[in-house]
Amino acid sequence: MGRRALPDSVHKPLLATLRGERQDRPPVWLMRQAGRYLPEYRALRAEKGGFLALATDPEAAAEVTLQPIRRFGFDGAILFSDILMVPWAMGQELSFGAGEGPRLSPTLLTRKLAELSPDVARLAPIYATVRRAAASLPAATTLLGFAGSPWTVATYMVAGQGSKDQAETRAFAYADPVAFAAIVDAIADLTVEYLAGQIASGAEAAQLFDSWAGSLSPEQFERWVIEPNARIVAALRARCPGVPIIGFPKGAGDKLRAYAEGTGVDALGLDETLDPVLADAMLPPGLPVQGNLDPLALLTGGEALTRGIARVLAAFPERPHIFNLGHGIGQHTPIAHVEALLRQVRG
Ligand code: CP3
Repeated sequence: MGRRALPDSVHKPLLATLRGERQDRPPVWLMRQAGRYLPEYRALRAEKGGFLALATDPEAAAEVTLQPIRRFGFDGAILFSDILMVPWAMGQELSFGAGEGPRLSPTLLTRKLAELSPDVARLAPIYATVRRAAASLPAATTLLGFAGSPWTVATYMVAGQGSKDQAETRAFAYADPVAFAAIVDAIADLTVEYLAGQIASGAEAAQLFDSWAGSLSPEQFERWVIEPNARIVAALRARCPGVPIIGFPKGAGDKLRAYAEGTGVDALGLDETLDPVLADAMLPPGLPVQGNLDPLALLTGGEALTRGIARVLAAFPERPHIFNLGHGIGQHTPIAHVEALLRQVRG
């Protein structure tokens, strides 16, 4: 029986927490939980011949979305896709070479945005993935959609690849703020469509990944992180009322409270560099948070893991809390460490 046929009263601990209801034990999921640390992922990826082939095959991508749920019973399943599908739909070519990071071409250093030919049909298989995953998830599991935030996505579109400190893109934004604003606005507009499409297909909440928010000066953070994310949140809230949005401005540090208040996100992802006790004291009471175990503590296991988990669990005595990492799970993480994490978090 499909999940949609079940009564509305089925309790979903993750969704309830995102709506502000604290649970006795925090619900748990892990960023990048579908991926290379799982042998079943590596097998399906090899069978499909690469990341993009896998991510654009709805049957296979829905299967990858479900793999960590079957193995670990996480409270949330995150759509298996990538933040770079948006630049791909905006007309850049996208490749994920083995052993190197993703590549986008032409870069927006060499070509203007207006010279690209958008092809939003490239997003259609992703909506089909969401529909398939939604139809076969356990009733208590929450399905999360996601997109990259405009700043982080722009860093890849401008440089054509990941870069150490996003210097080309930060310099571009200083040198030509009008052209850069047009890029950020175009990403934000498509992101609203894209997330609304995921939600219409069955996503119950959505996360905005701003992985490189930490490289910006306070003024740039206001202009390129807070402003466009606020616009996305407002537009989505109008179109999809009641669907929680998680903001994850990695590296925001002392700008976290301004991000929370300025964007209006429903919940906040905390990276591993934040002291969770200080974050709890700094943030508006009642705002749900997610995080913030160091992925390297999970990779290491043993005492580092046990202590790290205990510290996160103790940090939020009253606030709605979702247990997660401070960033994505590393590809060499032993499965036994994920099992140990779940035993400790679930008590
Ligand atoms: O969380 C999940 O399980 C859902 C799937 C997901 C992927 N990418 C799959 C993926 C999500 C949510 C992302 C987000 C993403 N992608 C971000 C934001 C979060 C973060 O980690 O900061 C960013 C910056 C990207 C861009 C990206 N995609 C990079 C830099 C890379 C290469 C580096 C790496 O970690 O492998 C990817 C490839 C990618 N996206 C893989 C996966 C499982 C590995 C591809 C492979 O199978 O070889």
